[in-house]
Order: sequence, then structure tokens, then C-alpha cells
Amino acid sequence: MINVKPLSSKRQGVYISTYGCQMNENDTERMLSLLEMVNYEPVNSPDQASLIIINSCSVREKPVHKVHSEVGRYKELKKNNPDLLIGVGGCVAQQEKTRLLTDIPLLDFVFGTDAIDELPDIVEKLKSSHQKIAKVRFEHQKPYQIQTLVRNPGVSTFVNITKGCDNFCTFCVVPFTRGRERSRALAELVKDVQSLVQRGVKEVTLLGQNVNSYKSACGANFAQLLKTLSRETDIQRIRFTTSHPKDFNEELVQVMFEESEKVMEYIHLPVQSGNSKVLERMNRGYSREEYIQKVKMIFKYLPQAVLSTDIIVGFPGETEEQFQETLSLLDEVPYESLYAFKYSPRPFTKAARFSDQLPEDVKSERLQRLFDKHKSIAQQLSQKYVGKIVQVLVEKTSEGRGIGRSTQNKVVHFPLKGEQELVGKMVDVQVSEAFPQTLRGHLL
Ligand code: 5AD
Ligand code: SF4
Repeated sequence: MINVKPLSSKRQGVYISTYGCQMNENDTERMLSLLEMVNYEPVNSPDQASLIIINSCSVREKPVHKVHSEVGRYKELKKNNPDLLIGVGGCVAQQEKTRLLTDIPLLDFVFGTDAIDELPDIVEKLKSSHQKIAKVRFEHQKPYQIQTLVRNPGVSTFVNITKGCDNFCTFCVVPFTRGRERSRALAELVKDVQSLVQRGVKEVTLLGQNVNSYKSACGANFAQLLKTLSRETDIQRIRFTTSHPKDFNEELVQVMFEESEKVMEYIHLPVQSGNSKVLERMNRGYSREEYIQKVKMIFKYLPQAVLSTDIIVGFPGETEEQFQETLSLLDEVPYESLYAFKYSPRPFTKAARFSDQLPEDVKSERLQRLFDKHKSIAQQLSQKYVGKIVQVLVEKTSEGRGIGRSTQNKVVHFPLKGEQELVGKMVDVQVSEAFPQTLRGHLL
């Protein structure tokens, strides 16, 4: 969560607009922490800033266009203040590299996904030399050694455990924008989490493009990492995202079961398609049947597990019958949340070169049918919470209400009783009303 303070007179303002996933949100927090060390403070609007950064995402739909149009909106600001610095970071910067500087003359700098820690240096150089800067090299050779940087960590925070991805799903640009997969050292993660605990953090979400392929230099895998963090730190709750079905193995589910006091029972397990032929063309490394087997294994150990997924509709060559199999998967796997997208061709990827691309109207219509089907399923699934007691970690209180998340990752609202300070505490809430993402109830 980004915390914005009023700008004090000596400091300069930085405005960052963030697109995309939690990884990008976490990168933005890292940028703000680094820039704070060189006297920048976040501001609420671009016109208060002397530094504007677009932290871009290129996973889906018109990313370059979005960067062009956002920078275009800053034209007047730059005209009135020639010292205003404007830069682009994140996946579009990594993908387009120096081309962005040529195509968008208002830009002063681009920096790739491996250059975030160089940001203070880049900004200092820009101020002294007034020369445009591009830092877009991958640092494949260096070990992934960082420390979580977060200014006001609050109750719950993100911790990167891996960067990059080696899976090369044929639709996905990430291996090209985030580079080869690298894992942080186990001992450093233990230290990192423990120092967050000392700053008051109660819950961490371990982040990576594919967390379950975590492999530390000492040979520990993701299951061992979870176990170690659970046993050797005082963190109260551990979440993780995103899991790849092909790497979700029995050892991991066993550890989730053994450590279920701390490791939350919510699993985001992107399936992408319910048809094995499409999955093969996507290079996902599992079939529909193997995916369903993994889900059964999860429920065998963790009957209370809550699942969510990502689905792409209209992948090249997807037939109506194949799409029907994606629809029917929803009857077999009880997804409480669904993130679904129309396939969009991405640069460098194999699927962008497949000759059987589908028309936009077919993709839109399938997406709608998928959402319609899931909506009623999610509503039905949510009703199981009514009357139940959920354990909530309170993240904030506002206007007489407490707000936090349950072990199942549902946002829970409840009226406060009295003056007791509840932020950071674990409370029991009895649910009176349930919606797919949110539960309402009262404190016990
Ligand atoms: N088109 C549509 N959706 C995509 N995703 C990734 N690449 C594409 C693409 N080219 C979706 C996948 C992934 C999520 C983060 O974004 O479902 O899991
Ligand atoms: Fe992209 Fe596949 Fe890697 Fe996920 S696992 S980031 S979808 S290539």
C-alpha cells in the first residue's frame, strides 16, 4: 500500500503511476523507498511532482499505447517546468528499451526491471548532465540479492522470493521482460521476514512469477522455504502467489497442511484453459486431467482450501468445443475468484506468430459467457460462509468498522465495539452476509 505524506518544503515530489500485477506494486514501493533516501516524497498528483515515473505493464492489451498517452498528458507540465523529469520503468521499458526514448521525446529516462536499484543514481545523473538515460540490461549473472524495502510496512506486506520466469508459456511476455528466473537465498529470506516482523508486520505474501519453482543456492525448494519461514520466524501468516500447477506437488501441500497455523489455505492456481490441446499449445506443461488431479490432491490434504484462477479465452485456434471445456472446468473446480482475459498477442511470443488468431468479437463473447457462468457459481460458493466464524487479521479501522482479511483471503468488514485498538490483531468474526470477495459479520 502506498502511503502519501504532504510535501515538506525541502523535499521534492515524485509521482509514480503503477500498472499491472502485485509484483509491479511492490516494485513501486521499492522505488519510493529508494527515492526517499535521496530526498523525494510521494505526491498525490503529477502537477506537484518534479519526477514522474510510469511503472508499466506489458502482459496484456495496448501497453505501449498506454505509456504514450500517459506521457502525452504531461506535455503542459513539462512545458511549464523544463526541469520536470519523466521516466518509464517496468515491463514496457524492458520490452521497448531505447526505442521509447526516440518515440516519446518528452521522456528523460527508461529503466528496466533489473535497474530499479539504480534509480537514485539515474535521477542524480539526469539532474547533473541533462542527457537522456536508458538502463535496460538484464543482470542474469548476478545472484538475486535484495532486501525488502518498504517505507511503512503496516500489517501485511509483500516479499519477493524469485524474479523472472523460465517457463515460456507461448502467450506470455514475462520471460522477455523479467528475464531468467533467479531465487533469493533462504537464509536472507529468513532474516528479511524476521526484520519485517520486528517492524510490526504480521503477514507476508511471498511473490514470484512462479513461486513453486523457487530454488535457493543451498538447494531448498519452495516447500522447504515455507516450512523454514513458518518455523524460524515469528511471522503470523504466510501467503504466496503465483503458483504454477505443474510445480504444485504433494510435498508442498503436505507442508501447507503441517504449517496450516501460519500458511494460509488460499491458492491462486492459474489454469489458463480447460482443454488439454490448448494447454499444450500454450506450453503449460499439464493437461486438464492432470490439473484436476492436483486440485483433488489439494482438497485431500486441505479440505478448506480456497482456489482462484486465471483463464485466457480466445487463444489462437481455440474452437467453440475447446472453450466449452473451459466452461465445464468451472463445474469441476470450485473457483471462488476468477481473473479472465481475452488473449492478446504479445511481442516476442510464439503464440503471436500462430496463424489461427481469433476475431475480437469471438473473444469478447467467450469472455462474457465465462464471467456470466462464474458469477453465479461464485455467489453460490460464497454462501457457505454465512453463519461461519472466520479468523481475521485486522488491517485497518475506519468509520466505526474494522477491515481485514480472513484466512481464505476474503476481505471482511465488521462494526467495531468500543475503543479497543484492533489493527494488527487476529479476531474472530461471525459472518452474516457473504459476497464472492467480501464478507460482513460481527466480532465475537
Ligand atoms: N493475453 C491475455 N492474457 C494474458 N495473460 C498473460 N499473457 C496474456 C496474453 N498474452 C494472463 C494470464 C496470466 C495473467 C497474469 O495474465 O492469465 O496468468
Ligand atoms: Fe508467463 Fe507462464 Fe511464466 Fe506465468 S509461468 S510468468 S504465464 S511464462
